[in-house]
Amino acid sequence: MGATACMTWQEYLLAEGLLDQETSTRTPKAFPLNANRAKGYRKNLRDNLSFFEEFIVDGFDLQSVVDSAIKSQPCESSTKGFEVENEPMLRLLSGNNCIIRDGSSKREILAIKVTTSGSPEHAKPVIPAPLRTSLESGLYRYLYSNPLCKKDPNRHKSNTNHGTTILPPPLVRPGGPPNPVPTNGGSCHNIHTYSAAQHDQKISDIKLSQGPREVWAGGRQRTQALYQFLSILKPLSTLLEGVFQVTCPETFHIYKSVFNSLPKNDANRGIKDCLGIWTLRGIVLDAFTDVHVDLKDVCKGFCAIVPLGNFTGGNFCLPSLGISIPMVAGEVIFLKFHLIPHYVGQWTGHRFSLVHYTHQVVFDYVQEKRGGQQLFPLAEMPLWYRKRVNDCDVVPEEGAS
Ligand SMILES: [Fe+2]
Repeated sequence: MGATACMTWQEYLLAEGLLDQETSTRTPKAFPLNANRAKGYRKNLRDNLSFFEEFIVDGFDLQSVVDSAIKSQPCESSTKGFEVENEPMLRLLSGNNCIIRDGSSKREILAIKVTTSGSPEHAKPVIPAPLRTSLESGLYRYLYSNPLCKKDPNRHKSNTNHGTTILPPPLVRPGGPPNPVPTNGGSCHNIHTYSAAQHDQKISDIKLSQGPREVWAGGRQRTQALYQFLSILKPLSTLLEGVFQVTCPETFHIYKSVFNSLPKNDANRGIKDCLGIWTLRGIVLDAFTDVHVDLKDVCKGFCAIVPLGNFTGGNFCLPSLGISIPMVAGEVIFLKFHLIPHYVGQWTGHRFSLVHYTHQVVFDYVQEKRGGQQLFPLAEMPLWYRKRVNDCDVVPEEGAS
């Protein structure tokens, strides 16, 4: 463990034994998941939906959370050491596949954990082992190209130095082991298919730019590494869309219709398909995730997380629901990230998370193109959003459907 002195992800991967020099030069292979195989997979899951356990969070009403939502981080996020104090108080929700619903009569889905597909007698990992291997080695080889990584003060407040020091401290929770990410490597890497500057200002005249903004301007070698990594991600995107379609069909169809409405760009067409309906991929790089909500994400939408690596612990913790969900590498969780505070419990080892999500501004862009037609019922949106819509004069484009 000589990683405390590492400056870059390339150095870190070699020092921690996650990649060796020889492997780093090989081209990663994508997992073969053609349309037929994806179709068969969805059918298999649909046939076995009865094997999802249901867990109702009594007393938790999602709509009242929406009604009282203000666009800010939960108050516990300012409590130092909250995660360490809170985790032991949470109820452990074990089991393979489960759907967590609120306690209202609508039984709104809050989260879905998917571990296996198939019947209990013939259960298989939801993410086949060869796909998981492909994702891990593809990720490490991509990181080896030292793509631009950043700090994320919302997700990782324990590693935020408030701009007072040049080098960040190692990531550490009270009582937990240090986990030294590279000192100039950042702890998050984001790939955007689409992005817009107007996140919080307005919902009209949105200018959507295309392409992975943060990494696109790299040299040829880095661009090549990005394309290789995107091809590695594509089968996972396809597979997760299948799981989402089966478990959450109504919301899936909203995401799919947004995806279909987004502009095509020949140069980046491959990127659009690789990332699919979740237009942004965040990768959390071996870093503790502190309690937060994702305020830029689609208000009523779902994100999907897949942890990778070799780690122990790392339960997915939902303090407002009073539960923690054990997760190992290659399992999936869908969650309403914008509305439900979440953090990752204490863990040791190496843990990398692939986070699939879409910014609300992308949905707003599509809504504007459709003349203001709302994708989710406006009455079920937060007050701040309703006000934004009502204050806005939306002028539809000619010919917009
Ligand atoms: Fe999050």
